[in-house]
Amino acid sequence: MGELARLANAFFSALPGQEVPESSSGLQLAEPGPSVAPTPAAAPAVAPAPSALSDFGRGSEASYAVPQGYAAAVPQVSAVQPSAPGVGGAPVSSPYYFLGESSAYHSAPASANVIADDRVTAQSFGLPGEEALRELLIGTPRGSPASTPAAAPASGQYYFLEATPRLEKAPDFDRQVASRQHGFDVNAVRRDFPTLAERVNGKPLIWLDNAATTHKPQAVIDRISYFYQHENSNIHRAAHELAARATDAYEAARNKVARFIGAASPDEIIFVRGATEAINLVANTWGRQNIGAEDEIVVSQLEHHANIVPWQLLAASVGAKIRVIPVDDSGQILLDEYRKLLNSRTKLVAITQVSNALGTVTPVQEIVALAHAAGAKALVDGAQSVSHLRVNVQALDADFFVFSGHKVFAPTGIGVVYGKAALLDAMPPWQGGGNMIADVTFEKTLYQPAPNRFEAGTGNIADAVGLGAALDYVERIGLDNIARYEHDLLVYATHGLQSVPGLRLIGTAANKASVLSFVLPGCRTEEVGKALNQEGIAVRSGHHCAQPILRRFGLEATVRPSLAFYNTCEEVDKLVAVLHRLAKRS
Ligand code: ALA
Repeated sequence: MGELARLANAFFSALPGQEVPESSSGLQLAEPGPSVAPTPAAAPAVAPAPSALSDFGRGSEASYAVPQGYAAAVPQVSAVQPSAPGVGGAPVSSPYYFLGESSAYHSAPASANVIADDRVTAQSFGLPGEEALRELLIGTPRGSPASTPAAAPASGQYYFLEATPRLEKAPDFDRQVASRQHGFDVNAVRRDFPTLAERVNGKPLIWLDNAATTHKPQAVIDRISYFYQHENSNIHRAAHELAARATDAYEAARNKVARFIGAASPDEIIFVRGATEAINLVANTWGRQNIGAEDEIVVSQLEHHANIVPWQLLAASVGAKIRVIPVDDSGQILLDEYRKLLNSRTKLVAITQVSNALGTVTPVQEIVALAHAAGAKALVDGAQSVSHLRVNVQALDADFFVFSGHKVFAPTGIGVVYGKAALLDAMPPWQGGGNMIADVTFEKTLYQPAPNRFEAGTGNIADAVGLGAALDYVERIGLDNIARYEHDLLVYATHGLQSVPGLRLIGTAANKASVLSFVLPGCRTEEVGKALNQEGIAVRSGHHCAQPILRRFGLEATVRPSLAFYNTCEEVDKLVAVLHRLAKRS
């Protein structure tokens, strides 16, 4: 088995036309777990420095796992896409990740105009695909019980499907259970992220600031590097080879985004700098066209400043009003209060799917449906959701959906506006310039159709391609696996924090994703942040660009650890230990 894995790894690491290396010093093919292991093909020389790893790995491999007690609940589907159309196409493999523009996850309907971009696969080179190889290694046919994740529980067991919190009693956990219980190997995942091997103040970095930004897997770093080495050109503008390569790579990334969020067509995907620019784009195009004096824009108390200020600017300019949905003491939206805010003057409801400050998962599908019933459009801010739970914009029926690449393991400076085709077609351009025009004379300019109409000038081509690679990476691990693992880790961390004397958790909604905000009496949030940093632990302390929701809880700042699927119980333990020390001192 070991020899087979080594050969397989060497084989996957070789470029076409190159010889398979004698021995592979890169990552080993992840031992086949019950589900798809993360990117065996993404096996560049990313083995972290042994010294850094051994610090992390002083326990057994199993010590990285979220314990079994947390793994009981396996979601069938997430709350937001009960009828997600077309999910679950067969994975298409590539001999090396950065040429395979294909994706294992096909979230758009079969009829959708999203191209399944599978030009290069292992099979293209007459070789077995990733799945076939895994079968060979496991000796178990596809779809057999051993190759599927842990037993599926009844729906409703999952935290964001439940009406009541499940955090009352400390779960009984078993440190010996390997993380493959969750469908992926967290140790292998960690080796994919070079930054996680960094040291800070002589300690292994513990990155718990994922709501601010996520780290990038080597697959993304290499993909961007490959772009600049082999494809770099402007796009859509020339008849030469590199222009074709760059355009193909960029448009393939648009396809991947469309599939990832379940859009009906890549033409519904506009590349922008991030979620902030995305919301500003919608405010300045659709908003200016459709919102006027005395009209109302509904936002919630949970919103990030990026989903408040652009609407305030618009409202001030056109004479519209902002109405605010309040939250309860757990930080969840008060739906009855929301209903009361809706009326014939409501033109837009702009709502976050996951609160960056509290972690609340909002009932966004219901919120969108109620907006539509009132005749309004709905914009969903997915900046904090796309890395934690599966999104399907068609199931949500969102009119607009926005997110930032850097929160989903992609580079900074790239983000997305999804808009329903009919809305985009009717919207005026935002910025003018090259790329967005069909014809220009001094008398009259004709514009391109969407999405190009909204992408004036030379965009962030390489990072769009990097975003595509990040989404491929996430899909290889699987959003359901990620959601399940993070749920268990969140429950574990919540119990840990609750054990700290005096610690007050801010945001205790039943449905939460991967954010723990708290204050520790007697310690300023900045002090807590600094004390944690001394131990190599990165959290955000401050107002999190969400002052209104913190003020709802009588606060100006909190400490905010935020989790990703590469975090571990060991790391949470270290966080909790420092907080216990601080609590004793204060
Ligand atoms: N929006 C980012 C955060 O929540 C910056 O930290």
